[in-house]
Amino acid sequence: MTVYDVIEAKKRGRVLDGEEIAFFVRAVADGSASDAQIAAFCMATLWRGMTDEECFRLTDAMAKSGETCARPDVAGVCVDKHSTGGVSDSTTLVLVPVLAALGVPCAKYSGRGLGHTGGTLDKLESFPGLRVDLTPAQFEAQVRAVGAAVAGQTKNVVPADKRMYAVRDVTATVDSVPLIASSVMSKKLASFADVILLDVKYGGGAFMHTPRRAEALARLMVSIGRAAGRRMCAAVTCMDAPLGDAIGCNAEAREAVEVLAGKRNDLSALSLFHASKLAAAALDISEDEALRRAEEALSSGAARAKLAELVEAQGGDARYVYEPQRFAFAPGVRTVRAAGDGYLRVDALALGRACVELGGGRKKEGDEIDRTVAIFLQKRPGARVRAGEPLAEVRYNAPSEAAFTLIDGAFRVAGRRAVRPLIYTYIDGKEN
Ligand code: URA
Repeated sequence: MTVYDVIEAKKRGRVLDGEEIAFFVRAVADGSASDAQIAAFCMATLWRGMTDEECFRLTDAMAKSGETCARPDVAGVCVDKHSTGGVSDSTTLVLVPVLAALGVPCAKYSGRGLGHTGGTLDKLESFPGLRVDLTPAQFEAQVRAVGAAVAGQTKNVVPADKRMYAVRDVTATVDSVPLIASSVMSKKLASFADVILLDVKYGGGAFMHTPRRAEALARLMVSIGRAAGRRMCAAVTCMDAPLGDAIGCNAEAREAVEVLAGKRNDLSALSLFHASKLAAAALDISEDEALRRAEEALSSGAARAKLAELVEAQGGDARYVYEPQRFAFAPGVRTVRAAGDGYLRVDALALGRACVELGGGRKKEGDEIDRTVAIFLQKRPGARVRAGEPLAEVRYNAPSEAAFTLIDGAFRVAGRRAVRPLIYTYIDGKEN
């Protein structure tokens, strides 16, 4: 068998067997398959698709392509939440302290932002001094002491996905249901969480534009996880517009702190929704009771105190949790105003890209991020606005015409209100 044979078979739409898939994934991981061959395989898969069985095999082979993360030796059910990528989505920074305050251990490996979507690790590093490169021993000790830790996964976890994802990113092959499902789930299976909640985004700022495609992806990932013995659930949620009111690392870290201090918006609503599902599963209580406890953890300040503990344990400056005015923003200010009277529409994808153009995100792995770049929404999508009213404030160091054009185009005023539901559907893995 050769890599060429596997590509040829997929090109012709044949179902690949376990041996062929394992052979191909080994060749990706050990470098014997070229980038061109990986690209051809991914494009053939995007067009020809995969059966669920093939996708299970691909996920399993990818999960076994490198090291796995050992489960920290902590009592209780370990939970994890994974989002397929969004704009102004700092739910992890809210959810982890809420769950930790409820006594649910949160041992979470997170990622960095790439493309128009933000990454939890980048936002956490906005607390000056905070480290995300914890050793497994430090990670475990912190989960025992604080009840929560958020760190970067070691370099050697799922190396096959690292190569495949890098190739997909530049060959227009990201938006394939089996490729996204295997990419996400291989990383989850190489980790240890007992209960996994997937937040699968739909809409203009997501890989899946329609809720039905997002639901198909969610159901496939839930069945992959269940087949591997994990307790799974998934929410299909809207990413037409930014989830919160802030875009950019410092801006999103500050907004997470504000939510922990009482601010209520879609970001807090989705964080509470996720918290209720995960706490119910981990503590074996009803979702109503879990929601009540999660709300109490927010209103009592217990979750905020947990974030302060986490930040301090990871070497960060915890004063930022209680004095969010410490977060710095770039001096350049541009105000976006409504072009006419009507109902506001806000394009998450354009704003995510604009943030990258201004230096607030990465164009390629390893790029430095300017965490003081920010876009603050002053009106929510669907709001009735009048011509000339301020809609958003942009903060920048280096002006960028490309970014300003994206931002101006991202705010549209229409005659009809059009806001799709934040939570389209919830899939409880027990029923899948
Ligand atoms: N996130 C991933 O980890 N992989 C994908 O393919 C898409 C989103």
